[in-house]
Amino acid sequence: MERTLSIIKPDGVRKNVIGEVIRRFEAAGIHIAAMKMLRLTKAEAQGFYAVHKERPFFDSLTDFMSSGPIVVMVMEGEEVIKKNRELMGATNFKDAAPGTIRRDFATDIEQNVVHGSDAPETAAFEISYFFNALEICS
Ligand code: CDP
Ligand code: MG
Repeated sequence: MERTLSIIKPDGVRKNVIGEVIRRFEAAGIHIAAMKMLRLTKAEAQGFYAVHKERPFFDSLTDFMSSGPIVVMVMEGEEVIKKNRELMGATNFKDAAPGTIRRDFATDIEQNVVHGSDAPETAAFEISYFFNALEICS
C-alpha cells in the first residue's frame, strides 16, 4: 500500500470541480485517507515547491498557488502515485491524454487543476508538509 499527496489547485476550486476530481479518484479505487481545504501564503507555496526554486516559472507558480483556497488530500492504494499521475495527465494539458483531469479542465500549463506527488520520497515530504500522523485515517 502506497500513499501520495493530491492537491486540487486554486483554479480547480474556482472551476467548481472539487467533487468531479474526487469522484474520479474514488471511481479508480483510490482511498482518501485525509483531506482539508486551506489557503497557502506565498512563503508556504515557496516551501512546498522548493524543488522548483531555480525554475523560471517559480515566482508565477507560487503566486498562483497562494491565490485562493486549495484542497489537499492524502490518498492511499496500490501504486497510487502512478495511478494518480495517470488520472491527472501530462503537466501541459495540450499533451495530456483524453479523459484525464488536466485535459478536461486545465486552461494553461500553470493552471492545471491538480498536483500529485511524483515518487515515494516526494510523497513523504509533501504529506508531512500538510498532515501529521494523527490526521491520516488509513
Ligand atoms: O505538476 P507536475 O509534476 O506535472 O509538473 P512539474 O514539472 O513538477 O511543475 C509543477 C507545476 O509548475 C506544474 O503543475 C505547473 O502548474 C507549473 N509549471 C508551469 O507553470 N510551467 C512549466 N513550464 C512547468 C510547470
Ligand atoms: Mg511535479
